[in-house]
Amino acid sequence: MRNRSIITGTGRFLPPRIISNFDLEKKMNTTDEWIRQRSGIGERRYAEAGVGSSDLAYEAALKAIENAQIEKSKIDFIIAATLSPDHYFPGIGVLVQAKLGLSQIGALDVRNQCCGFIYGLSVADQYIKAGTYKKILLVAAEKQSSNLDYSDEGRDMAVLFGDGGGAAIIEASNSQGEMGILSTHLFSDGKNASDLWMEKPSPYDHPTFAKELLADKKFYPRMDGRTVFKNAVEKMPEAVQAALKQNGLTIEDVDHLIPHQANDRISLMVARNLRIPVEKVIRNIDRYGNTTAASIPIALDEAVEEGRIKAGDLVVLTAFGSGFTWASAVIRW
Ligand code: UT7
Repeated sequence: MRNRSIITGTGRFLPPRIISNFDLEKKMNTTDEWIRQRSGIGERRYAEAGVGSSDLAYEAALKAIENAQIEKSKIDFIIAATLSPDHYFPGIGVLVQAKLGLSQIGALDVRNQCCGFIYGLSVADQYIKAGTYKKILLVAAEKQSSNLDYSDEGRDMAVLFGDGGGAAIIEASNSQGEMGILSTHLFSDGKNASDLWMEKPSPYDHPTFAKELLADKKFYPRMDGRTVFKNAVEKMPEAVQAALKQNGLTIEDVDHLIPHQANDRISLMVARNLRIPVEKVIRNIDRYGNTTAASIPIALDEAVEEGRIKAGDLVVLTAFGSGFTWASAVIRW
């Protein structure tokens, strides 16, 4: 019988410094009212200087390992997702590995932005099903606060994003039950790459880090918010429907939907398009903003800790973001 992938532990780490909308009002021409109305965000967390995504990932990983009740030495593979790595290279996978005091095992970096956790989950699921690995650490973390444009020009992006990390331990099980990852579904359309991106630094430029590029604010992430919004509210429901169809399930079977926390209006429109009651949608963007790859594992861990997600529940994850990429996963908890 083929292995099944089971999430045996989750963890999260949010840096303690809370940045309210009022704090941002002092930096740029924005208001608490605008941010709440347009995004549902009330506050977000910012990590201090000297803290990187790998540190947030490490803290979240420790909690996931503790909750899974495994020895960290038993982890046989690491998958790490971030769009804000500590360094241009190497990725944070090896840094998390070193911080955990592990060596030899492979560490894979996933660069699928808001979909990073689900893309990583899909990779983990395939490795487990193939019998290659037995205990995989999947981490997703972002330190975005140090590279946002806090001028009026960058206010559409700057108010949305926050820092944080989330993690999961995915283990092989050959039990007969229905439990575990039922399926994952990955999609992308690269023609929209420039609608949400950090264009520079780029080796197209010679030199890559030219002063003029810095002066032109080319090193900040930028997006066409309306195009992203419009696509997100279409593609996430499509991804969920594809996942349900493959498993012979309907939206009525879903106990919890965890959408990537990009904007609360997006989450509510996704719920409306899917005709799922809003009480079944897990939403925490009001407290953390958009933590990109980390948003789903943070929300998942909170919901598990609160006892909202219980054994046997059907949990559906979905995300949309830069690439464009979009994805879904169905898990029997
Ligand atoms: O994780 C995946 C990636 N991100 C997303 O999924 C985000 C997707 N997009 C969005 O969430 C929304 O498009 C935003 C929240 C970014 C913007 O909301 P919107 O309702 O689409 O606003 P808008 O871009 O149409 O802008 C409306 C107005 C503009 O002013 P004018 O041209 O009407 O005078 C903006 O300049 O709001 C202005 N504006 C702001 N005002 C105050 C833009 N950002 C701000 C701000 N504070 N922070």
